[in-house]
Amino acid sequence: MRIILVGYGVVGKGVTSILARRYEEKFTNYGFNPKIVAIADIDGAVINPRGLSPEKLEAIKQRGYPISADPEFGHPGKTALDVIESVEAEVVVEVTPVNIKNAEPALSHITKAFKTGKHVVTTNKGPLALAMPALTELAEYNKVYLRFSGTVGGGTPMLEFAKRCLAGDKILAIKGILNGTTNYILTEMSQNRISFQEALANAQKLGYAEREPSMDIDGFDTAAKVVILANWIMNRKITLKEVDRTGIRDVSLQALDEASKRGNTIKLIGSIDGDTPTVKPMEIAKTNPLCVSGVLNAITFSTEFAGEQTLVGRGAGGMETASAVLRDLLDIRHKLATKMLR
Ligand code: HSE
Repeated sequence: MRIILVGYGVVGKGVTSILARRYEEKFTNYGFNPKIVAIADIDGAVINPRGLSPEKLEAIKQRGYPISADPEFGHPGKTALDVIESVEAEVVVEVTPVNIKNAEPALSHITKAFKTGKHVVTTNKGPLALAMPALTELAEYNKVYLRFSGTVGGGTPMLEFAKRCLAGDKILAIKGILNGTTNYILTEMSQNRISFQEALANAQKLGYAEREPSMDIDGFDTAAKVVILANWIMNRKITLKEVDRTGIRDVSLQALDEASKRGNTIKLIGSIDGDTPTVKPMEIAKTNPLCVSGVLNAITFSTEFAGEQTLVGRGAGGMETASAVLRDLLDIRHKLATKMLR
């Protein structure tokens, strides 16, 4: 399987490292023979149809140069769109940073991949939040797969659990703590009795929250994940603007204390139950399996026959999210081998 990697940040590096590790085992167990033939980064690209060496690229980065400075395979200034258009490959792995305003440049990368007959694996929530119904339709029209396991739950297989393990049952409702940063802030506020501002500053120091943290604390990140769950699991054709969204800026220490007296706490919950998907701070019992602390994520699926099923795990991190990319690549490999259409 020839792969074009677009984006060489924390997740991109995780992908190259995960693909290189235990190569033999993946080949023996899954007949999976991945080869990264191109990497496009902000400054240019590296291309080698025979496969690139991640160690060599890492050494170039360590010396402070962009990967396109590679003397043998580097193409300084070559854009990702050029690479997707001109390099022969089966799959584009799109792991550029999220842009919730217009989803670019990821949206253009994905549509270019579809139009040139390439499957797409992405961890980028932007294009899905803003255009998921159109993108899934475009993938079907071009007879290619679009996979995005790492967009919800990071390495925790929330989408696969619902789609595959609960197949045949009917999922009636979904509730989840889908953002690690806000969960860390609320946990710190309630357990250590510090203010929202102080907890946010700690989250930034630890590298959880962005320097411009609105994506997390105003609930955009959770809302994007709700959109993906609603489309993929609940068959709703919605985008970000249809989610009723409230962030955690107004959650006070006093409200957390009062909830605590009732044996409860306040969490930022994304939920799909009834007509309007919502993101808002909600009081939940401390004994509820959904009530995880720190940066953990958790999701509860309420089903018709199997009752409530809760999955807990790490929702972010380079290697964790890269493991979701590997899962998606194996899924595409399996589907191509068995000629399944979806
Ligand atoms: N900012 C996100 C979080 C990263 O805090 O959960 C993973 O989507």
